Amino acid sequence: MRLAGRRALVTGASRGIGRAIAAAFVREGATVVLASRKQDTLDAVAAELGPRAIPVACHVGRPADLDSLAARAGPVDILVNNAATNIAQGPCLTFTEAQFDKMVEVNLKSVFGLTQRLAPGMCERGRGAILNIASVSGIKPQWESLLYSMTKAALIMMTKSYALELGPRGVRVNAIAPGLIQTQLSEYFWKEGEREAFPYRRQPIRHLGQPEEVAGLAVFLASDEASYVTGAVYTADGGALLL
Ligand SMILES: NC(=O)c1ccc[n+]([C@@H]2O[C@H](COP(=O)([O-])OP(=O)(O)OC[C@H]3O[C@@H](n4cnc5c(N)ncnc54)[C@H](OP(=O)(O)O)[C@@H]3O)[C@@H](O)[C@H]2O)c1
Repeated sequence: MRLAGRRALVTGASRGIGRAIAAAFVREGATVVLASRKQDTLDAVAAELGPRAIPVACHVGRPADLDSLAARAGPVDILVNNAATNIAQGPCLTFTEAQFDKMVEVNLKSVFGLTQRLAPGMCERGRGAILNIASVSGIKPQWESLLYSMTKAALIMMTKSYALELGPRGVRVNAIAPGLIQTQLSEYFWKEGEREAFPYRRQPIRHLGQPEEVAGLAVFLASDEASYVTGAVYTADGGALLL
């Protein structure tokens, strides 16, 4: 029970990595506010996770939704910025400004918006942990993924910048950079055909990553076990970046 008595907010908690993190936090004793766009999906997840899971619908790209999410969440000890999208996969010269804006809005501005709303309370209380789910694509550019890679690289720098200034006020800020994890978001890469040859078949750890394999790291970074860790970017990629 490494998170007993803590209150957490996890965005994108209805499925995939966010759901696995929320479930692990509940198992470790935290009360967890689950956020994503669809209330009925969140209600079903909360019913599975138990009474310490609180479902609150929120589109992280909408400032009014962020206001009501922050109000409903109340004072949180742990913020996990996990929700993200990838609406633009393809040759870089085909992308539009509208796609650029959407990717920045959902993957980046949302993190800024939620951190600006919740971190001041953490600073006042002198305690907090913020965890941003980036990607190995933010470290090494992913083929035909200009906008996704760009938002994740910026998220890593946002993590370090917040860590630098908020550390003296008791708030740690870290990032996890997952490699290929089997979720709906990454289905294109692992589903079928020639894409089965994607790097996970060659990477040092030779299986397709699962959301639970990111959640353990998230528990560590959110807990007091990581009391001396801030501004760090931990990969959970089966060693894919070594290739
Ligand atoms: N899977 C991978 O291989 C991989 C690799 C590296 C990094 N990541 C990162 O890991 C994080 C989680 O990804 P995942 O693979 O678990 O994706 P996923 O299975 O598609 O889940 C995404 C979650 O975010 C929510 N979401 C999407 N858009 C939203 C919005 N505008 N407002 C609020 N919630 C929204 C979704 O719920 P609704 O659709 O119901 O809103 C869902 O709960 C992301 O930051 C992703 O970039 C994933």
